Amino acid sequence: MDNLLSNDKFHQTVPKQFILPPEMRVPREVNCTMSLPVINLRGGSHFHVEDRDQIIEEILHAGKEFGFFQVINYGVSEQLMRDMIRVIEEFFNMSKEDKAAYYSEDTSKTNRLFSSSYLAQKDGPRYWRDCLRLASYHVPETTNDWPDKPAKLREVLAKFIVEAREVSMTLLSLISEGLGLKEGYFEGDLTSGQVIINANYYPPCPAPDLTLGLLPHCDFSLITLLLQGAVSGLEIMHQGKWVRVDPVQNALVINFGHQLEIITNGLLKSVEHRGVTNSGAARTSLAMFIMPAKECFISPAKEIVNEENLPLYKSFVFKEFLRIYGELSAKRVDVMEAFKING
Ligand code: OGA
Ligand code: NI
Repeated sequence: MDNLLSNDKFHQTVPKQFILPPEMRVPREVNCTMSLPVINLRGGSHFHVEDRDQIIEEILHAGKEFGFFQVINYGVSEQLMRDMIRVIEEFFNMSKEDKAAYYSEDTSKTNRLFSSSYLAQKDGPRYWRDCLRLASYHVPETTNDWPDKPAKLREVLAKFIVEAREVSMTLLSLISEGLGLKEGYFEGDLTSGQVIINANYYPPCPAPDLTLGLLPHCDFSLITLLLQGAVSGLEIMHQGKWVRVDPVQNALVINFGHQLEIITNGLLKSVEHRGVTNSGAARTSLAMFIMPAKECFISPAKEIVNEENLPLYKSFVFKEFLRIYGELSAKRVDVMEAFKING
């Protein structure tokens, strides 16, 4: 239980387990803030044909250029987004005793509160973050397995998951149309796995240059939606440099997970990102991972590979991917190498 960083409002010092070895301290470039493309989803459904075509073009362009983009006006109420962030803040601000009920170091548990990262190597450094990880198959059946405090958490999260999942299904359907995949390509097994939520809390850290909140990684998902509070801390790898993505009010950050990169045979990239710390303010974020079913068979799409565009990746069963991803601590080059043909 002592491991939770959020039990201490202001840390005066950084315990040595959190200090990264020099080779892992990736220096921050000056002026490295970037605005990600912001795509207006025009309410999120029932698009006019011209709008639809334009949105598809914007998604594919941003996807190929950055692997990340933001959406606004996607049909989830601003109130719900604010409530979602607030309820996570309230959760991490609860007393030590209240939080203790949910804390677990058992990585096989789907719903648990922990600190650092399950991807951290055993003898490696710890990361400056607490995380409440919750899974759901079918809201509302799983809501009873989530924390019962703060009082609003279950209700707000259940609503958020249902609505945000709609946004991801809309995006996937636009992507599938844009890439010429068969209609409904992403419906079914590719998106019927658990929806996993990482509610992240990064307390102020007195030594931001020596620590990281979250190690560099690509997501194991098909697609990820990220809701950020007002404090920045997300950095993405762009043209060989780490660049900061400042939060845009009411926007959702979208990025492609490894599965989408493999299915599109590398057309849409899964881009490395990390969480940095700061000394001034606590940061809250919520990542929602859309996942294939555990037994789902993943391979580059038939519509995309041909004699000129040979498959770059092997076929595999999703649960096997998860196992290897964990073993390799999410390190992008190693994970991609493991699934490359002739890799
Ligand atoms: C994640 C993630 C980024 C953030 O949870 O996978 O990348 O800004 N989070 O917290
Ligand atoms: Ni991530």
